[in-house]
Amino acid sequence: MTRPSIFVTRRWPAPAEEALAAHFDVTLNEDDRPLTKEELIAGFASHDIAAPTVSDVIDSDVVRAGGNGSCRMIANYGVGVNHIDLAAAAASGIPVSNTPGVLTDATADLTLTIMLMLCRRAGEGERELRAGEWTGWRPTHLVGRAMTGKTLGIIGMGRIGRAVAHRAHFGFGMNVVFQNRSPIADGGGVNGRQLGSGAEVCAASDFVSLHCAATPETRHILGAEAIAAMSPDAYVINTARGDVVDEAALVAALESGAIAGAGLDVFQGEPAVNPAIIAAPNTVLLPHLGSATQETRVAMGMKVVENARAFAAGAPLPDNVG
Ligand code: DGY
Repeated sequence: MTRPSIFVTRRWPAPAEEALAAHFDVTLNEDDRPLTKEELIAGFASHDIAAPTVSDVIDSDVVRAGGNGSCRMIANYGVGVNHIDLAAAAASGIPVSNTPGVLTDATADLTLTIMLMLCRRAGEGERELRAGEWTGWRPTHLVGRAMTGKTLGIIGMGRIGRAVAHRAHFGFGMNVVFQNRSPIADGGGVNGRQLGSGAEVCAASDFVSLHCAATPETRHILGAEAIAAMSPDAYVINTARGDVVDEAALVAALESGAIAGAGLDVFQGEPAVNPAIIAAPNTVLLPHLGSATQETRVAMGMKVVENARAFAAGAPLPDNVG
């Protein structure tokens, strides 16, 4: 294939777009607005490679239209691929790649940011000050809870789960417990204890943080039963995908005070956010910022370029997901 065409659904940081342009005939979404299904179908059908991202719904109609047209590869900009119908891609003989590894540190850093914001009530404090409502220092003002020395429960001890555990253990002296679908021999590198279920992790933890991929098996892995096992002093943090938490059960627990708070960077059906979550008490809510550093977003683009170039050269994809 000489100079293949690539369809890019959203704008990327400039160095990554430049790297694309050096190797491909690039069609950019110049206005960087969410594309309609019809626009996705047209783009997939008319390019050799499609480079979508988490905010696009790449369902079987889009994949099939690509396969019936000229699309021969999907090079996803992002590690999560739950927005792509992988079965349809396999049925159409279209390989899919992702961008693992390069967003581990950024996502782990944001998880720790959220944990600290929650237990130290940083969001509440900033809102109070900006509203001109701060009446001065007093011993009982916005008193939170310590993070140092507490127990962190991780659901999904992959790359990002391990990076969060590392920061929490070595930076904040936290004990770590975790659930993972396969056994982890080294305690996650933090002397962590693997437990059998999400509910056991919830019962043992002051902070429960989700780091599993969104699959049919992990849908609502943090549901009413697991949340009921949590202490009223404990917090939930989700930087994975909205679907892994049962939002209705979470809202009920926040409203009743069954848990101390929740920090969410991802939402079911985002960018729409369930109004009950916005209204719930003791939350830190961020607009899917896990990978949002210049370094990481450039590196994600470079990974797409690397995979697409391998495909064009007829070489195995470095990050083949299906
Ligand atoms: C991913 O890559 O899956 C992230 O959620 C995007 O930040």
